[in-house]
Amino acid sequence: MSETSVISPARGGELAREAGRRRTFAIISHPDAGKTTLTETLLLAGGAIRAAGQVRARGENRRTRSDWMKIERERGISVSSSVMTFERDGLLFNLLDTPGHEDFSEDTYRTLTAADAAIMVLDAAKGIEPQTLKLFEVCRLRDIPIVTFINKMDREAQDPFELLDEIGGKLALDPAPLFWPAGSGNRFKGMLDLQGEQFLPFKRGEDGLDAEPVSTRGNSIAMHLDEAELAEVEEGAELVREASKPFDLQSFREGHMTPVFFGSALRKFGVEQLLAGIGSYAPPPEPVEAVKADAPIIVEPGDREVTGFVFKVQANMDPAHRDRIAFVKLCSGRFARGMKLKVQNTGRQLSVHNPMMFFASERELAEEAFAGDVIGIPNHGVLRVGDSLSESGALRYAGLPNFAPEILRRVRVKDPLKAKHLKRALEGLAEEGVTQLFRPVMGSSDFIVGAVGPLQFEVMADRLTEEYGLEVVFESAPYAEARWVSGDRAAVEDFAGKHRTAMAEDIDGAPVFLAKSAWEIGYVGERYPEVTFGKTKERG
Ligand code: G4P
Repeated sequence: MSETSVISPARGGELAREAGRRRTFAIISHPDAGKTTLTETLLLAGGAIRAAGQVRARGENRRTRSDWMKIERERGISVSSSVMTFERDGLLFNLLDTPGHEDFSEDTYRTLTAADAAIMVLDAAKGIEPQTLKLFEVCRLRDIPIVTFINKMDREAQDPFELLDEIGGKLALDPAPLFWPAGSGNRFKGMLDLQGEQFLPFKRGEDGLDAEPVSTRGNSIAMHLDEAELAEVEEGAELVREASKPFDLQSFREGHMTPVFFGSALRKFGVEQLLAGIGSYAPPPEPVEAVKADAPIIVEPGDREVTGFVFKVQANMDPAHRDRIAFVKLCSGRFARGMKLKVQNTGRQLSVHNPMMFFASERELAEEAFAGDVIGIPNHGVLRVGDSLSESGALRYAGLPNFAPEILRRVRVKDPLKAKHLKRALEGLAEEGVTQLFRPVMGSSDFIVGAVGPLQFEVMADRLTEEYGLEVVFESAPYAEARWVSGDRAAVEDFAGKHRTAMAEDIDGAPVFLAKSAWEIGYVGERYPEVTFGKTKERG
């Protein structure tokens, strides 16, 4: 039980019940595996949109409205994240969109800190691809339960046993298929429900959301499968039942097992079943560890105090307002519009008069929200990624880590008169988490920016031009690595004093060592054993 749960039973009951019907999840996949198509079909299945094409259309609209997303359009990749909410069978689903491109893996990591489960989409012909693996590793860092959807069964697929082996071998995750496909490509006929005696027929040209299961006993199945096909799918089902571990809810929730669904996002086949699976098995928001008055506590979703953390900040969603939206995952309480919340690390108070909830079609004002929900809070730089928010302002969740960048560049503005503007713009982008910013403590007034992948620099240059009217050039920096320096204070000061030309401060003023090579980090690490050279830094 947590210390904050001084609540009347009726209240706690309602809060816990509301939290218990939330399912907050993200989709991870390699580009082209079908994430966008699946998102759209899930929203259709959830009744959030009426006609296919809206996710893309909405995307296009958004893109033409905000120019910096030109990159998205030109490269056909999704850079920005959003949240979509829909309700079905008494459950409330919050679908978090994550960028598919690996250069934005840090952004994805942050979004996944707000997800209580993830769907891993695999292309049935390709299995596990490099980006699937990378994103999976990010999920594993937090033991997020993963549901697997093997997509594009309407096309020629790999042998499903091979696909399961790949999941087991490459991800060290026990695959537990809940369905078994009958053929693939032109021979795809549907799938057997391994938990019941039912077969879901696939009919080419028909909307898969309308598919009605038929009993495997009796004659009706013969309308969908000939004898040889029936024998083949039954034999496969038999084999897979023997070869794989049965689905175990606890093992799934601990991140060791993944239930496997098959289908076709494009033909909308198997998606109802996937959604039902998320509803039944994916966890509602769980208790979260935090610190209050220097003591560790566990915050329960049913606790009365409204608490949450900022996992993403996004600018320019609405060009009419130059505001930023901070996406907050609520961890407890009942949030009501107009409520006052405090930021733990700065003590600043916000009156949240115009929170947003993100229903699939448009932004709407949220009147109330519960643990598991994501609300968008427009603000002018008060909220930053990793901030903890609560009514008391006394509660702190573990900060979101910054990762040491893999590429460092010196950035210069072409018009020297605009140097001051550049500083503000770079700080703004760093606060949003687009790129990281390092200010050398000595000498030049140059800024060093860091990124995980080169596309981040393109997004940055584009936004500096479009939003701030600044033309910049990136030059190679004489540094290859950045490390956060911490540890014994005297030792850190001694190190920093002797390496002043290589020292910088990050956006929070934390000391950073800029090294010329990975070798140099090993070298100084040996000479200064009391100093830690961190590859990650937690804010908050
Ligand atoms: P992504 O977001 O993961 O990058 O993938 P996206 O949904 O954009 O899908 C990539 C391509 O795969 C699209 O084709 C899409 O239509 C196709 N696709 C997705 N799911 C299925 C499926 O279940 N079966 C089949 N056969 N194809 C599927 P495209 O030609 O690149 O784009 P488009 O012109 O169709 O939009």
